[in-house]
Formats: sequence, structure tokens, C-alpha cells
Amino acid sequence: MRMSRLLVLTALFAAVAFLSTRAPETASQVRAADAPAKTDPKVERGKYLAHDVALCVYCHSARTIDGQIIKTELFQGAPVPVPSPFPNQEWASKAPNLMSIAEVWGEKDLVKFLQTGIPPRGAPPRLPMPPFRMNEEDASAVAAYLRSLR
Ligand code: HEC
Repeated sequence: MRMSRLLVLTALFAAVAFLSTRAPETASQVRAADAPAKTDPKVERGKYLAHDVALCVYCHSARTIDGQIIKTELFQGAPVPVPSPFPNQEWASKAPNLMSIAEVWGEKDLVKFLQTGIPPRGAPPRLPMPPFRMNEEDASAVAAYLRSLR
């Protein structure tokens, strides 16, 4: 991985971590433990990864004007609130709705994507989507969780 890409990713995760922790007691937190419990252990693990580890929920959910995540719209897509830190870096302006992607792509494509960064069709997504390299167990748990939200 090129150094600039690594720097972008580091900055990115710092930003996400900042957004998700700066006000621990407010509604901007959407910890797995605060969401309704899922009975399937695989789905429960996917929820933990999507909320508390890979932080999908903080980029793919809409926020109010003061930055609070709208809990009734989790994973339904959101604008990317910051521009690229580098002028020549390709950068997306919005994060798509993961509930519909989970439905349209199906489990197999989603698992492969989370392991390789390669989507079933078209070019890989631009930053700030992190190019995840999950192992099969984690990728399949996240896919199962997202599909359970339908
Ligand atoms: C730092 C913000 C961020 C995080 C964290 C993040 N995403 Fe994304 N994601 C994006 C953005 C922005 C795009 C749109 C990229 C584009 O349009 O090129 C995207 C695109 C996607 C896509 C569509 C890819 C395609 O080719 O159409 C999927 C699926 C996805 N993300 C799943 C996830 C999952 C699952 C997680 C957690 C495991 C996650 N994302 C974490 C920002 C993020």
C-alpha cells in the first residue's frame, strides 16, 4: 500500500474515531450494545464488528445538523462530511445505503467484497471507504448482520 494511501486511511480512522467518541454520553453513539439484541451469535458478532470495530455505522448513517447519528436511519446512506485531504486523491461524496446493497448484492458478493475490496461489478469504491481485508468469518458475520436489518 502506498504511503499516501496509508496516511489518508490513518487520517480517516482518526476522524471516524473522533466523531464516534467525542461525546460518549450523547446520541451520536450507536454502540452494538445499545442496539436491539440479535439471537443468532453470528449476526450478533457482525453487529459488534459493524458498530464497534470497523465502524461502518458512523459513515453509512445520516446525521442531524449537529452531528448526531439518526438512530432510525442506521446504515441507510449518508453524505461524506469532509473533503479529501489531498487534492489529487479520488474521494467519494456520499456513502451508499448498506441495507439495499446487502439485499441487491447477496451474501456471497458482500463477503467477497469485505475480504478483497472488490465489488461484484464496476471499479472498487473510492476513499474514504476503507479497503477491508477481513477474514471469511468476520466478513460473513458482517454480511449476515446487514442482511438481518432488512
Ligand atoms: C470512513 C467511512 C466509511 C467506513 C468506516 C465504511 N464505509 Fe463503506 N463506503 C464509504 C463511502 C464514502 C462509500 C462510497 C464509495 C464510492 O462511491 O466510491 C462506501 C461504499 C461502500 C460499499 C459499496 C461499494 C461499491 O463498490 O458499490 C459497501 C458495500 C460498503 N461501503 C460497505 C461498508 C461496510 C460493510 C463497512 C464496515 C465493515 C463500511 N462500508 C465502512 C464510507 C465508509
